[in-house]
Amino acid sequence: MSELLKVAMPKGRINRPAIKLLQDAGFSVPDDLEESRKLVITAPEAQMEFIMAKPVDVATYVEYGVADIGIVGKDVLLEENRDVYELLDLNIGRCRMSVIGLPDWRPVTNPRVATKYPNVASQFFREKGQQVEVIKLNGSIELAPLIGLADRIVDMVETGRTLKENGLVELESMFGITSRLIANRVSYRMKNSRIQEVCDRLQEIISE
Ligand code: PRP
Repeated sequence: MSELLKVAMPKGRINRPAIKLLQDAGFSVPDDLEESRKLVITAPEAQMEFIMAKPVDVATYVEYGVADIGIVGKDVLLEENRDVYELLDLNIGRCRMSVIGLPDWRPVTNPRVATKYPNVASQFFREKGQQVEVIKLNGSIELAPLIGLADRIVDMVETGRTLKENGLVELESMFGITSRLIANRVSYRMKNSRIQEVCDRLQEIISE
């Protein structure tokens, strides 16, 4: 039996579509990866070991080589700027990064922008020549304009439901996001045929 391929899998909303993609590509991956509380799960038939990670940490595990490959959103790659190979657009987890605010939002000097993505937000406003104060939050970002912490937020919009239910509007769509297959640079050389096989089989499914 060849060496296990270590795969960093994002917990949460991308988990199911990521499992399905691997299964559709012919890898024998259990359906219920996330149902157990186990964080390292071996799938012997697929010769894979899954590392169940917070989405924001997937690229970190891959950069440090404790995972050979990983599935991660483009949002995380842009924010974290990790030294990994981006191999494939998996075309799952489609959403967008947007500037969001209250409908009656008015420009102010040096506005406060709350976000989980301080690097992405800072770069975006810097490139527009706008001075803003970026406030890093870790979730429920939509709270910030509602309770007066920030004038605007930079966050992901998928269905738009969170915005709608909180009376917020999308002021500007910044860029589209999908999940990507990434690889550790050394693993990509040392386990090239395994990683290439995963990449090729996924590519086939995606382009069908
Ligand atoms: C994300 C994002 C928005 C929401 C958008 O949050 O930050 O809040 O999903 O999705 P929607 O357009 O389909 O409503 P997530 O659920 O990941 O949790 P968080 O608020 O803790 O970041």
